[in-house]
Amino acid sequence: MTGLQTRVGPVPAEATFALRQRILRPHQSVAAMALAGDNDPDTLHLGAVDDTGEVVGTLRLEPVACPWYPARTDAWQLRAMATAEHLRGHGVGTDLVAAAVRHIAERGGGLLWCNARVPAEAFYTRAGFMATDQRWDDVLIGPHVGMVQDVPAA
Ligand SMILES: CC(C)(COP(=O)(O)OP(=O)(O)OC[C@H]1O[C@@H](n2cnc3c(N)ncnc32)[C@H](O)[C@@H]1OP(=O)(O)O)[C@@H](O)C(=O)NCCC(=O)NCCS
Repeated sequence: MTGLQTRVGPVPAEATFALRQRILRPHQSVAAMALAGDNDPDTLHLGAVDDTGEVVGTLRLEPVACPWYPARTDAWQLRAMATAEHLRGHGVGTDLVAAAVRHIAERGGGLLWCNARVPAEAFYTRAGFMATDQRWDDVLIGPHVGMVQDVPAA
C-alpha cells in the first residue's frame, strides 16, 4: 500500500488498457492497446488500484529473451509502465517495479529488462536498473535506452 492508498496486485490485461492508452499511446485507440503476449499464461499484469477500484498505475511483465543478452535464458521484459498523471511522484511506479522484481525473485531470479523512454531513465535507475549502451529513437514515441537489472533468487 502506498501513501496514497493504492494497492498493487495482479489485474486482468483489459483493466490496464484505458491507462495504457491515455499515458503511453494516445495516438492509438483503446481497442488497439492489446499487446501480443497479453494473455500468455506467464504474463503478469500488475495494477496499482485506488480506493474507487480504478487502475492508476500499471506494468506488464513477461518472460521474453533480452535482445542485448540473448544467452540469458532467464530474461523477463517489463513494458507498458505508466502511472496516472495526478499520482506521479508518490511511489506508485516504484511499488509496481518492486512487485515485478519480487515476482521474478520468487521464480528463481533472472534478468529484468526494458526499452525505457529516456525521460523515465532516472526513474528506472532509481528502481535498480542500469542503462545499456543501446539507445535509439522511436519515430512516434521518442528516444529510448535499453535498461537491465539482475534479480537474484528470493
Ligand atoms: C515513469 C513513471 C511510470 C514513474 O511513475 P511514478 O509513479 O511517478 O514513479 P515514482 O513516484 O515511484 O517515482 C517517480 C519520482 O517520484 C519520486 N518518488 C518516489 N517515491 C516517492 C514518494 N513516496 N514521495 C514523493 N516522491 C517519490 C522518485 O524519486 C522519482 O523522482 P523523479 O521524478 O525525479 O524520477 C511515470 O512518470 C509515467 O507514467 N510516465 C509517463 C509514461 C512513461 O514514460 N512510462 C515509462 C515508459 S518506458
